[in-house]
Amino acid sequence: MKRVTLNDGNTIPAVGFGVFLIPNDGPTYDAVLSALKAGYRHIDTAAAYFNESDVGKAVRDSGIRREEIFITSKLWLQDYGYEAAKKGLETSLEKLGMDYIDLYLLHQPYGDVAGAWKALEEAKAEGKVKSIGVSNMTPKIWNEFVPQFDTVPVVNQVECNPFFQQKELRALLEKDDVKIEAYQPLGHGNTELLTNPVVTELAEKYGKNAGQVILRFEVQEGFIVLPKSENPERIAGNIEIFDFELSEEEMEKMRALDTGKGGHDPEAPGVAEMLLANYKIHD
Ligand SMILES: NC(=O)c1ccc[n+]([C@@H]2O[C@H](COP(=O)([O-])OP(=O)(O)OC[C@H]3O[C@@H](n4cnc5c(N)ncnc54)[C@H](OP(=O)(O)O)[C@@H]3O)[C@@H](O)[C@H]2O)c1
Repeated sequence: MKRVTLNDGNTIPAVGFGVFLIPNDGPTYDAVLSALKAGYRHIDTAAAYFNESDVGKAVRDSGIRREEIFITSKLWLQDYGYEAAKKGLETSLEKLGMDYIDLYLLHQPYGDVAGAWKALEEAKAEGKVKSIGVSNMTPKIWNEFVPQFDTVPVVNQVECNPFFQQKELRALLEKDDVKIEAYQPLGHGNTELLTNPVVTELAEKYGKNAGQVILRFEVQEGFIVLPKSENPERIAGNIEIFDFELSEEEMEKMRALDTGKGGHDPEAPGVAEMLLANYKIHD
């Protein structure tokens, strides 16, 4: 598995297994065990996914040493502010049943972001988290918050796939060697993307499926990708992307699919309120 070096010197597997929308108490446990068996060594969860305990249990039961598996979790909005963030991290560690998290992210860029980030910086100094990053920051939101931080985030986890290639954000992040983590790398299962002729022609040429071509393109572009699946065959297939390479001409054809727009606009009015109403982790 290819690893990407972060700007703090740590490395991260280029393909991670995303567990958003997979229920706890069984389905996440089964999916994570299936992913680890297939060769994934990077799992992406969050407090607001409500499935950290299944992730931890699957890691323990896998028989694979903890230090061989890269775990990401995320602080939820309800826990922003310095004191609340410290408690939020402790709750995640407890649910995971782990004494450290490899990468811990501010899940959303609203509210007391600076206070929460300070708590993450301290947690990193204490060894409770190895690397710290952010998520859902557009260039405008990045410029609003990050210049106040003492530590530059290692990643910005954002919506990113061939239809929305985040060109402006990438140019901004490159200056500080901040990596893009592509969430919804398969467009959240977007059929229009998975049946796009540029994608399907490449799939046929390389004897791969559409999902594998899309993920290969993204990894070749330098993104860390987080495909989700509950289907053991697709789980295994989504990391079988290191035995072929797209040519520069093919990469250009994939780059031309960019529409510059995604499904989620972090700058839209009322987003923070909507998220807080939909994901209540404390009640
Ligand atoms: N930071 C954030 O705010 C944020 C937001 C959204 C997502 N994320 C992260 O990103 C991860 C992935 O996002 P996502 O789950 O929304 O979308 P995704 O990975 O782009 O797509 C998942 C969908 O595609 C299907 N699928 C998986 N592999 C496939 C393949 N090879 N061919 C065709 N269809 C395939 C899955 O169905 P089956 O399960 O039936 O295979 C599922 O419906 C999440 O799990 C989470 O870790 C982060």
